Amino acid sequence: MEQDEDANAHDHDLASLEHREDSIELLFQTHFSRRYDTGVQVTADKAASALRLHEVWRSHRIDVDFDQFVEDAFLSLQYAYNQKYGQWDQVNDLRALYQDTWYKKIAPFATSLAPEATVLGVGVNDGREVRQLFENRNLNIDLLDISSEAIRQVAQQLSGYRNVRSFVGSFEDWKAESAEYDLFFSLRTLNSTSIDLQSCVRKSVALVKEGGILIYSVSNGYIHMGERGEPRAVQGMFSYETGTIDAERPKQIADEITQLLGAEDASVIEVSEEPTEIFIVAQKNQSGRVSFDGGL
Ligand SMILES: C[S@@+](CC[C@H](N)C(=O)[O-])C[C@H]1O[C@@H](n2cnc3c(N)ncnc32)[C@H](O)[C@@H]1O
Repeated sequence: MEQDEDANAHDHDLASLEHREDSIELLFQTHFSRRYDTGVQVTADKAASALRLHEVWRSHRIDVDFDQFVEDAFLSLQYAYNQKYGQWDQVNDLRALYQDTWYKKIAPFATSLAPEATVLGVGVNDGREVRQLFENRNLNIDLLDISSEAIRQVAQQLSGYRNVRSFVGSFEDWKAESAEYDLFFSLRTLNSTSIDLQSCVRKSVALVKEGGILIYSVSNGYIHMGERGEPRAVQGMFSYETGTIDAERPKQIADEITQLLGAEDASVIEVSEEPTEIFIVAQKNQSGRVSFDGGL
């Protein structure tokens, strides 16, 4: 179902909207403090990456083995994501208002893949988006999410797909078996509070083959009930600092991703702001390509 513009909340309404959303940081802290006392300052954005945790472990002289510390921090982060996203049907998902259209901008990149192509999806939750994106059920698809509860439901969501493998872990620390994927996608995930954005963008580019496609999206809104109880799209992203919905934040994060890609070996093909999310599509550069003014 398409929404017309009047159905969207305008910027001046946003601050007054009451919005509820679990905080990954709070959920993480609650779980982590059961095992470690509050003197150990670990924030959720450190917990997905052993590299980031090493500094905390060293400076606090934490009296447990480093590998154990990394595992404990990861389990607390996983707890937070299981709580927030373990059951996708309980999530207030704006895609429900745009069920048949939200993915149209990126669908051509999926349908133009070769029949045996390899795909990596990160932050896929229970994998339901794969059904809309990839009609070819023979593709070799690897899926990763930090939520063990979400990944447990992948087999059920994608029962007709023959070559799907799923993994539980944080992308920052995940050990890929291949760095030759034809297509990478990560939708509404790199905007998560706990993500190490730079390392994730860098890693995603490293994991696709030359000429391979990278698709990212940034969440761009929520469903809210209008005065007559009708569902309305509200554009923006909730800010825990201000307690309001920030209409500019998704664009800022999309800009950050675009800039980070510029510093990597990839070229942005298109950026498009859709009601549910902002899509960024890029292609990994081909190093062997002869440049216009040289190489002869
Ligand atoms: C907002 S959901 C998006 C799910 C789906 N891609 C969509 O757009 O509907 C974000 C997902 O990313 C996962 N996630 C968050 N941080 C992650 C990380 N560092 N590595 C892997 N998955 C992560 C969460 O568990 C959650 O399932």
